[in-house]
Amino acid sequence: MPLVTTKDMFKKAYEGGYAIGAFNVNNMEIVQGITEAAKEVNAPLILQVSAGARKYANHTYLMKLIEAAIIETGLPIAVHLDHGDSFELCKSCVDGGFTSVMIDASHLSFEENIALTKQVVDYAHPRNVAVEAELGRLAGIEDAVNVSAEEASYTDPKQVEEFVERTGVDSLAIAIGTSHGAYKFTGEAKLRFDILEEIQKRIPGFPIVLHGASSVIPEYVDQVNTFGGKMPGAKGVPEDMLRKAASMAVCKINIDSDLRLAMTATIRKVFAENPTEFDPRKYLGPARSEIKKLVINKLVNVLGCAGKA
Ligand code: G3H
Ligand code: 13P
Ligand code: ZN
Repeated sequence: MPLVTTKDMFKKAYEGGYAIGAFNVNNMEIVQGITEAAKEVNAPLILQVSAGARKYANHTYLMKLIEAAIIETGLPIAVHLDHGDSFELCKSCVDGGFTSVMIDASHLSFEENIALTKQVVDYAHPRNVAVEAELGRLAGIEDAVNVSAEEASYTDPKQVEEFVERTGVDSLAIAIGTSHGAYKFTGEAKLRFDILEEIQKRIPGFPIVLHGASSVIPEYVDQVNTFGGKMPGAKGVPEDMLRKAASMAVCKINIDSDLRLAMTATIRKVFAENPTEFDPRKYLGPARSEIKKLVINKLVNVLGCAGKA
């Protein structure tokens, strides 16, 4: 099976009341952990690559790893650019074989966001590549851009119809209270489901994307802290909130921090318990297995996309 686009995945997810997991990939063990999990539960997948990942691992290496995963699993997999910040970056990923790109111009004015998003859509669509855009601003770190809590803003539902119509975009990332990274809430977790509902009413059938959707699994945070790390107060989005979002218009749920945590917690434990170990396979292997376990739980119990490949 060749790489697929997200169009068909999102249509089925919307109609079926579930979401597709979009997992960030940076190296072989992460690609293998995620794709082995999806194969085990027969789930469709989006593997996404940030500009930072592309710089770290190299475009060709990542594409070849993903191609290998497709050969090994036979699953429908889309490869997506996460948080593209320029037309040139999006173009380079379209030309380089990605089947979906995100142009994140949410820091620009409404008109500038429309203009840049449309420029990417006009390039991507004739080449059968889907485009995700963002309206509203999430707090947290997106590559070079660090958005403070004060600068973050919820998506204004009144803007979505005009944005979608004028850009021709295929999916829309919205800000309803999630944020990137491991510190999402200082008090109780709260998401603005009223905004999501209003958006769903205004653009029925249109796929919505939730960024910053890691649960920052407390067991991994404890494990990191037990074995020499320091992540006090790390907190993510409760799983029941993600389940609710997936049953609504949210068709794509972005997860990166949980993968990082699972990997780091595992490696810290191996190092602490086996100080003489220096074979990378002895810590990267367990980290890969933990990622697989984590992703199976997400696909089956949170996103609801197991069995939908
Ligand atoms: O949204 C951000 C993702 O977690 C990617 O992070 O830009 O550090 O690769 P990165
Ligand atoms: P997390 O930091 O919550 O994993 O979010 C990842 C993300 O939104 C990637 O685009
Ligand atoms: Zn994101």
